[in-house]
Amino acid sequence: MDGTFMIERPEDVAGLYFPLVSETGLKSCVTPRLGGDAKIDQNHFLLEPTSIENLNNNRSCRNFWVRWDENLWSASGVSAKQEVDWMEGVEHSRLEAGILYHKIRRENQRLQVASEILSFVPYDGNFEVHQVTIENTDVLAHSMEFVTAIPMYGRSADNLRDHRHVTSLLNRMEIKEQGIWNTPTLSFDERGHQKGDAIYYVEGISEDGAWPTDFCGVLDDFIGCGSLSWPEALVQKSEDIWQKAGAQVDGQEVLGGLHFAQCSLAPGARKTYIITIGIAHDTKEIMKSRSRWNSPKQVEGLLQDTIDHWNAMAPIRIHTAQPQFDFFFTWVGFQPELRRLFGCSFLPHHDYGRGGRGWRDLWQDCLALLLMHPEEVRPLLVANFAGVREDGTNATIIGEGLGNFKADRNGISRVWMDHGMWPWMTMQLYIQQTGDEEILLEEQGYFESDRRGTILEHLILQNVAAYEKRGEHHMLRLLDADWNDALDLAGERGESVAFSNAYAANLISLGEEILHLQEHFPNRGIDAAKGKELIAMGQSLQEEIRAREWLPEGFYNSYYDNDGHPLANGEMMLTGQVFAIMGGTATEEQIASIVTQANQRLLDPSCGGYRLNTDFHEVKMNMGRQFGFAYGEKENGAVFSHMAVMYANALYRRGFGEAGYQALRYLWEQSMDFKRSHIYPGIPEYFGRGGRGLYHYLTGAASWYLLTVVQQMFGVQAAYGKLQVKPQLQEEQFDAKGQAWIRIPWQGQMCRIVIMKSGDITIEQEG
Ligand code: G1P
Repeated sequence: MDGTFMIERPEDVAGLYFPLVSETGLKSCVTPRLGGDAKIDQNHFLLEPTSIENLNNNRSCRNFWVRWDENLWSASGVSAKQEVDWMEGVEHSRLEAGILYHKIRRENQRLQVASEILSFVPYDGNFEVHQVTIENTDVLAHSMEFVTAIPMYGRSADNLRDHRHVTSLLNRMEIKEQGIWNTPTLSFDERGHQKGDAIYYVEGISEDGAWPTDFCGVLDDFIGCGSLSWPEALVQKSEDIWQKAGAQVDGQEVLGGLHFAQCSLAPGARKTYIITIGIAHDTKEIMKSRSRWNSPKQVEGLLQDTIDHWNAMAPIRIHTAQPQFDFFFTWVGFQPELRRLFGCSFLPHHDYGRGGRGWRDLWQDCLALLLMHPEEVRPLLVANFAGVREDGTNATIIGEGLGNFKADRNGISRVWMDHGMWPWMTMQLYIQQTGDEEILLEEQGYFESDRRGTILEHLILQNVAAYEKRGEHHMLRLLDADWNDALDLAGERGESVAFSNAYAANLISLGEEILHLQEHFPNRGIDAAKGKELIAMGQSLQEEIRAREWLPEGFYNSYYDNDGHPLANGEMMLTGQVFAIMGGTATEEQIASIVTQANQRLLDPSCGGYRLNTDFHEVKMNMGRQFGFAYGEKENGAVFSHMAVMYANALYRRGFGEAGYQALRYLWEQSMDFKRSHIYPGIPEYFGRGGRGLYHYLTGAASWYLLTVVQQMFGVQAAYGKLQVKPQLQEEQFDAKGQAWIRIPWQGQMCRIVIMKSGDITIEQEG
């Protein structure tokens, strides 16, 4: 299962995007018509920033034109006439994509011409490669000209409206032999005036090694009285807009317009051009990349290295009786890599924030990393604790590189009450996977403080601090929000029963770990009394929840609002059930009752499974902005994948494998049903109206899905570094031979663990 897929006429579904990314910072995405943007960070966008609404409407794309006789055709599919052709069915396309490349073939029957465009970002370079092949499908020979038209935005996303024009005055466009460079003199945004530090460029070569013959670097000259989808310069065959190498123009919107020499294409003949667009710090970097894409052969090598790299980064594979599920899982396993590289801000649906990841996302992404690259995780975990404050709260934004934290995003400091809970959850997995308990005795500093302490001390502080912030119903206060970011209007009297469960479980397991540590490292000053104290705290909190929060309807209350009322007028929220089950508060009978109630109140099989809540029919200004969202969207009752997966995880953990499996099955069936989900393979953040997948790729749901399949469905777990396999596979998951397998790294070795329906388990080492 290598993640490759094909879709006929993907453009029939509006709003698709595919990620392309490098390890060195370039973050791109492409639509089937090669729209979408490319950037390094908030202040360095090579192409104009793209959000959900302009994915389809923006004509500013990587456009490749072909002109012959009186005909003009866009190999990318972006021309005024092709919009009509598309709807009339005389133009067709077929997408093939894999981890991580995008290849689209387009054929036009009106004009008898076709193209194939292979697009990727080399994993180790800050440039996109587009290999464009033009094919003459006519019965006559034609003399064709190839022209690129890629508007180069080249500035900060903030300038999309703010100083859009003035920032074009900073542009310095130069024409080189190979293409067009723009080196803005300044970067001009809310940070003040920074000296320009980037070159934005478009270069290209034909398959026979010829550079472009002339160039158009000024957007206005190119479009004239037309537009990017019907540019005057090409329609009217203007001669005077073309310039030669050496020309320069200052202060204009820049276009990557490369014009190649005419070539004669016999019937059925093809011609290939390699076009790159990139961001570089200096001339040397451009030279270096240029030496890597000079011929189709080189491009082939570059692509293979890229595919190999990403496959090695996400190596876990499964085999069950359901190939579609196994395929889906390949993409889900790759998504945590995408979030590591894109953060939470840089794909079209993720048009918020200015880059970086949040605190809880950081810890949950480590879960996936722990399964895929356990050897890399130790320094990362130790560094992450530097974000904890002495009072148990933490920095909320994580910058580039190890241990770089920022207090918060907008200068408004907020406390999410769940933040203190995730680090121990992740550390527990690390300790069980590796047996490296001593990590708890490593020292680390505290954020914005000179004080240092062991990691164990950090963990105790985080969990106890949250435990001590009790509300009037003895539950932990919600403060500015919990996992659900949109429960943000109950800061005074709100309480999160949901996360009280999670903290209770943490206190118990942290206490137990302290006792274990004390037994194995008796001379390291570990205080066993502290362990017992934490266990007692956790247990008493669980008892309180059991005694007071179980509702007559047969499930748990999840929250108290800012007026001190429980959200218990028949409404059900999934979050409170998930953590009551996962953390051990819910008894077995209660779990059975929760499953029944969730099936009645929250389950929507047409939309991916379990909704986050029932419809409150009220804009609860005493609870959070979630209630202002339309019901069924995002945090207001969508099938929110992250929580639905955690529900599955919790059920499996407590031995309810069949119910857990169903929750996962609804999610993958919905995701993979392209006609309804409208997304490429993978799991989206949520399913909204009509079952459409939104906020694709960058979701914590992927890490949890991976974790749940590995540790619960296949049961590949560890206890202090010792492998244990306790599968909960369902009948229908075993293939015709009665087997299922998982391929997973274990202690530096790739292993295939084969599980038979009969119960036999074999572990084979690969290579
Ligand atoms: C997103 C955020 C996550 C938050 C969740 C619910 O989920 O990234 O931190 O807890 O919304 O508000 P995700 O996109 O990871 O699925």
